[in-house]
Amino acid sequence: MEFLQRLRNRASVRDYQRTPIPEEDVLAMLEAAQRAPTDATAQLYSILRIKDRALRAELARLAGGQKHIEDAAEFFVLLADVHRLEKLLEFRGESMGRWPRTALHFAIVDAVLAGANLATMAETLGYGICWIGGLLNRPLEVADLLNLPPGVLPVAGLTVGVPKERPNPRPRLPQSLVVHTDRYQDYARDALGLAYEAMAPISRSGDWLKILKHYFAKGGVMEARDARYGQLVARQGFSPDFPAASAASIEARGLPAASLGDAIEALLERGWRGALFQNEGEGQHVVWIEKEDQAHRGEGAAPGEALAAALEAAYPDAH
Ligand SMILES: Cc1cc2nc3c(=O)[nH]c(=O)nc-3n(C[C@H](O)[C@H](O)[C@H](O)COP(=O)(O)O)c2cc1C
Repeated sequence: MEFLQRLRNRASVRDYQRTPIPEEDVLAMLEAAQRAPTDATAQLYSILRIKDRALRAELARLAGGQKHIEDAAEFFVLLADVHRLEKLLEFRGESMGRWPRTALHFAIVDAVLAGANLATMAETLGYGICWIGGLLNRPLEVADLLNLPPGVLPVAGLTVGVPKERPNPRPRLPQSLVVHTDRYQDYARDALGLAYEAMAPISRSGDWLKILKHYFAKGGVMEARDARYGQLVARQGFSPDFPAASAASIEARGLPAASLGDAIEALLERGWRGALFQNEGEGQHVVWIEKEDQAHRGEGAAPGEALAAALEAAYPDAH
């Protein structure tokens, strides 16, 4: 119950003293992270400890100018990582199966569980922490900056440091709205009203809607992030339609490669009459693209790979 009491009082910290954290504490946090449960013991995650101050400043900028990333004694980036698994299989003569969607799911789960353990250990040692989803504002730049190979995706950052502030705990929804028994119970109007009432203290205006609207409604932050996240997922090799190399090739020809649908839409906008996809069976895909007196054929192991091949024929020079 002492643990629960500590959780009741905890709050994310965004103002830090510049005091360093003793290495043994950092090592304890990293060990705690590694003790987290992990699907099939595969450990589909990595942790980047950002020590380089200039790199830290650049990440803070990419995350929307979040000063606490620079001030905190430590900054970690939690990575979903199936690259290491692929290497381990290859090392023993096996090759990775094709399961990009499930890989993304389990790798993110593993990364979050490890990060949660790291954060809880840090708070147990008296440090403050703050998760940083702002890295997803500019995820492609973050992936480039951190040298992430295909199979690796930034999930979130985590600041850890000696707190300069003791923020008040933020409210949560009533348990009855979050915990369902046996079957999912959809939300009646009065329950939704209760949710807003419970969350009102979160903002000075007393209206949770302001925050929800800013992030999640039409024209909000998440909508702006989504296309870039799609591009990242494709480029890092987690999209079934788009192997990483094909997404990069399509992007290099000036077409958005967040999804196959986006690429086709851009193709039509460039005056192509259409793209005819054929599945030849046995994992072989063919596509024809046509406009005026031109027609180009591409083939590959996925529709996106075939499209990339056709576009490479149409536009031999990448940008
Ligand atoms: C995935 C995730 C991303 C977050 N991203 C940010 C962020 O970019 N910047 C920030 O200051 N806080 C960020 N937070 C912290 C949340 O705002 C905070 O956890 C939430 O408001 C609840 O407050 P509490 O942690 O103090 O209880 C993030 C939290 C999570 C779990």
